[in-house]
Amino acid sequence: MKVRIDTGRCQGHGRCYDLAPDLFGEDEEGYGTVLGDGIVPPEKRDQARLAAANCPEHAIELAEE
Ligand code: F3S
Repeated sequence: MKVRIDTGRCQGHGRCYDLAPDLFGEDEEGYGTVLGDGIVPPEKRDQARLAAANCPEHAIELAEE
């Protein structure tokens, strides 16, 4: 699984990096960023799904690989 953030949708609500801090960080303005290459290890998949489900802007995309 891989995550990405649609920067056109992200409004900086911060749920992603609160709920899944191993996968997401924030930039200097509070917008979400993907940490590293966005590859989600199997044990972090639930975190990724939780973040995606809780982003009010539906800005988090999950891709199965
Ligand atoms: Fe942005 Fe959604 Fe995270 S709006 S900061 S991607 S919770």
